[in-house]
Amino acid sequence: MAKRFMVTGALPYANGHLHVGHIAGAYLPADIFVRYHRAKGDDVLFVCGSDDNGVPITLTARKENKTPAQVVAFYNAEQKKAFEGLGISFDVYGGTHSPEDYERHTQISQHFFKTALEKGYLTKKTSQQFYDPEAKMFLPDRYIKGTCHHCRAPGALGDQCENCGKTTDAMLLIDPVSVISGSKPEVRETTHWFFELDKFREPLTKWLESKENWRYVMVNFTKGLLSEPLPSRSITRDLDWGVPLPLSDEEAKGKVLYVWFDAPIGYVSFTARLCEQKFGDWKKYEDYWKDPNCEILHFIGEDNTIFHTIIWPAMLMAEGTFQLPSYVVSNCFLNFQFPGKDVEKMSKSRGTAVWINDYLDGFDPDPLRFYLTVIAPETQRTAFSFDDFMRRNNEELVAALGNFFHRTLTFTQKYFEGKVPEAQSLAQVDQEQLAMIAGLPAKIGGLIESHNFKAALEELMVAARASNKYFDTKAPWSSRKTNMADCSVTMNVCIQTIKTLTVLMEPFMPFSAEKAAKILNLPSSERLWDKAAESLPAGHPIAEPTVLFKKFEMDELKTQE
Ligand code: MF3
Ligand code: ZN
Repeated sequence: MAKRFMVTGALPYANGHLHVGHIAGAYLPADIFVRYHRAKGDDVLFVCGSDDNGVPITLTARKENKTPAQVVAFYNAEQKKAFEGLGISFDVYGGTHSPEDYERHTQISQHFFKTALEKGYLTKKTSQQFYDPEAKMFLPDRYIKGTCHHCRAPGALGDQCENCGKTTDAMLLIDPVSVISGSKPEVRETTHWFFELDKFREPLTKWLESKENWRYVMVNFTKGLLSEPLPSRSITRDLDWGVPLPLSDEEAKGKVLYVWFDAPIGYVSFTARLCEQKFGDWKKYEDYWKDPNCEILHFIGEDNTIFHTIIWPAMLMAEGTFQLPSYVVSNCFLNFQFPGKDVEKMSKSRGTAVWINDYLDGFDPDPLRFYLTVIAPETQRTAFSFDDFMRRNNEELVAALGNFFHRTLTFTQKYFEGKVPEAQSLAQVDQEQLAMIAGLPAKIGGLIESHNFKAALEELMVAARASNKYFDTKAPWSSRKTNMADCSVTMNVCIQTIKTLTVLMEPFMPFSAEKAAKILNLPSSERLWDKAAESLPAGHPIAEPTVLFKKFEMDELKTQE
């Protein structure tokens, strides 16, 4: 029976470009999962968009001399282009402040806030905070700089001191200045609404206990946080860019929801927009978000864990009519490595980030998808390196998978007039090869379902290598002269193999799978996962082969640095 899935990728901030770390951390594994389930015939919606609200956006606008609306429109479009170029197949790419989403997003976000308030999960508190008179804004802690009140080192930030590593209190910094304008901040009183997270500690703990099969590091981290009282969190900000508070009090004036409160609600509001487009009824989002027959999966990077395993589920519990996520799939960071050097963090200023749109200007998406899955930081941090990328592309993708397709297709073209050859009597070795591929859909599918994407791709590569071995053992170039019937069987089996591999590689390398399917004359209706190992009949036409995977030269890749 078809299952229903709601799959989300963490919303990227609309003030930056995407690099390979973002892709490996959330969107590529999500896309593999989604493409697989589509091929299973399941009902899947894959939802993402940009995170448009909050201070970082207004600061970028100030720096770039633009309005926040211009900033988010620009980066949203850049991100969309990068995702499309890589074949990340969202059903919708929204934006929490985009013209298409803002109204609905605001309505749903305000609903979450109001419900939580009515149910007594929010409390109002007045506190003292720094205000920048020149920039005319209250300053978040990390935008205050001063001398550390622990170690007396200069340049400590209002949330942490780099020198002694301790958490700081912005109010205690000596000679504080605003990072934004350099001016001396004033202390002003302001009122905010706090989410009483601790009220959800017990239900969250129970809920998490039912998630035994989640990735261990994330579960452990979350359990650790739940073992102590959860501090209440301010969910409002003094800012004019975001979702306004749905209150008429004087105190609510000039305030918006904290960006981390409205951002995950973007998953819901983008679903609503999609449902409007797809079914003409935005309320259909409830079929995904409120129906227990639908599984909800959030794919995120490690730094988003607490927001998805504690705060967002608590928000959903507070609202009361939504379901909780079935799964949060978090990945670790992807670092960067220059040959012979230490592993470094990806960083713009150090030139250690590989930008997607730059890469796509010169190269095909599939090799990158392949490599980022091979080195996927599923349970620990890993590193991207150009040397390793080139080697894996040339020695694995091209040499194993590409080679098997190429030799099978060219041989069939040359000696069997581009038609699937007859297979009269199969020897044991042929039957073994067919049995091997018949087992692949379940094996690889099982790994994808359990979010072991790296292992799933590895199985595909193991199969490709075994298939090359079969080709070598059967030596059709020689049986062609001595035993045409056997040559014909061999090539039939090889064609059946590439047919299976074409369907199974689609979640990982959709562009190459599409090319291969064209050559095999395999319409998309035939590319169902469970039918992957069903054979093509003898006589089925095969088109002229084209090159699926190309070798990289180091020099061309190096221009990326
Ligand atoms: N914008 C955040 C980041 O890039 C992620 C937001 S995820 C969501 O770290 F849940 F809030 F949507
Ligand atoms: Zn210090």
